[in-house]
Amino acid sequence: MSKNIFRKKSIDLILDDVANGFGDGESGGGHALSKELNTRDLTLMGIAAVVGAGIFSTIGEASFNGGPGVTILFVLTAITCGFSAMCYAEFASRIPVAGSAYTYAYASFGELIAWIIGWDLLMEYAIGNIAVAISWSEYFVNLLEGFHIHIPKYLTMDYLTASRAYDSVQQLTREGHLADITDKLRAEAQAWANAPAIGGFKIIANIPALLIVIIITYLVYVGIKETKKVTNGMVLLKIGVVIAVIVLGFFYVTPANWHPFFPNGFSGVMKGVSGVFFAYIGFDAISTTAEECRNPQRDLPRGMIYSLIICTVLYILIALVLTGMVSYKDLQVGDPLAFVFAKIGLKKISYVISISAVIATASVLLIFQLGQPRIWMSMSRDGLLPKAFSRIHPKFHTPSFATIVTGIVVAVPALFMNLTEVTDLTSIGTLFAFVLVCGGVLLLPKEERQRGKFRIPYINAQWIAPVIFVIGVVVFWKPLLGLLSGENPHHNFPYFLFIILSTALTVMAFVKKLSLIPVLGLLSCFYLMTELGYTNWLRFLFWLVIGLVVYFTYGYKNSRLGKMNS
Ligand code: ALA
Repeated sequence: MSKNIFRKKSIDLILDDVANGFGDGESGGGHALSKELNTRDLTLMGIAAVVGAGIFSTIGEASFNGGPGVTILFVLTAITCGFSAMCYAEFASRIPVAGSAYTYAYASFGELIAWIIGWDLLMEYAIGNIAVAISWSEYFVNLLEGFHIHIPKYLTMDYLTASRAYDSVQQLTREGHLADITDKLRAEAQAWANAPAIGGFKIIANIPALLIVIIITYLVYVGIKETKKVTNGMVLLKIGVVIAVIVLGFFYVTPANWHPFFPNGFSGVMKGVSGVFFAYIGFDAISTTAEECRNPQRDLPRGMIYSLIICTVLYILIALVLTGMVSYKDLQVGDPLAFVFAKIGLKKISYVISISAVIATASVLLIFQLGQPRIWMSMSRDGLLPKAFSRIHPKFHTPSFATIVTGIVVAVPALFMNLTEVTDLTSIGTLFAFVLVCGGVLLLPKEERQRGKFRIPYINAQWIAPVIFVIGVVVFWKPLLGLLSGENPHHNFPYFLFIILSTALTVMAFVKKLSLIPVLGLLSCFYLMTELGYTNWLRFLFWLVIGLVVYFTYGYKNSRLGKMNS
């Protein structure tokens, strides 16, 4: 059993499978995906997936907490993503098939971990898209308000937020803290009070979020070519707007706003980890289109790295401009880019930004909605999910059934879920995927190193890793001791895990002369995971346990590799 669940699929078998239609000739119903994408398309798709709700929305809360120092977090996160991008690029170059990190894990860690990562990627793509759909809805509703079109609030928000707001307002009123009732809280509580009820159950749901997911799912269903054309147009527009914000905003920067640079210290900056990391998520999504690329081994690594570099430069500049234009204290808003221009009196510009945000976030939806079905398709081809998930549409050449299921899985929860919670889940899930991809590169057999056109430069970590470890201990010894005290030491378990992992990795780096870049990728992603809080870890672990139940009740028994080996 234990040997079976860690059975590995060799890279040769993975590539043969794709070339020969998965042995039984049934997967995909005999139809293949269209090969349409080149480096330029992939770079644009990468940017399409990255620049969205993060930079247009969650950066506001992160800047409020961290002050101008949030810029440093953008740099740190970019470095972390850079290590992971290199590892993704090496894998994508060696194994240019659609399953992304899932397929890479099958080759390096074996079936169980591959399943876990496939299940985990659901968090990045599907749950991530719920967050993006909710954020899209916020901007869209604001835009409609600009045109004096008013949708009742209870049809544009989630149930739980409205119910909590109502309770908070009741409590604050009872206690006489009327000044603490913000306009936002009051509007949400009113939505609860005004919502119609059926049998005592309030009808409160985010209808625009549902509609945008339906439209995007349709587009992804009808073809990669159509998706590509729409994406390219959207991306050019959003890059144009982001550059315009940087250039124009630069003239309105008041350097005094950058002092103090860390108003709430390093811990204030780190509160923004989830929001800032969320802004970077997406460059990896293009690896799911490997079978639709003309030259995936050359173009995929380039597409990923180019898109990450472009987004990093844009983000750092945006963070500087944003925190330079107004005081960080004003930035706790859902539409910070539009807000800062409205605040300095440039209302028309703020309006253009809102329209662009609607388009920008829609393009993120598009790419994630494209990625998820392709991962399911790969898992289904391996027998870990039912065959229907790898069915290819005879006319549109897209994974039809998996695309529709993705639409449902995203659209329905988008009606009811809360933005912050889904953003946090997406960030922890994606960081975990990055950890496994970085770890996977370290595990790939040496003889495989000749394959592929992109290779991570080998830097021997033997001495560098221990030096970094010692520096870490010297710098952080005080917080390390603090972990053992405090009221709820069990809340520190992610940090304990990190300490164990980094110690073990340092020893292995020393003994086995591991490659430095994947080692640093693994450590930095795991560290960011530890910053995401105990509750998120519990939710994440709960999600993984459900995944294990599904694997042992279906995937383990139906695994194609298992049947081939028996
Ligand atoms: N990076 C993507 C966004 O910010 C997920 O919307």
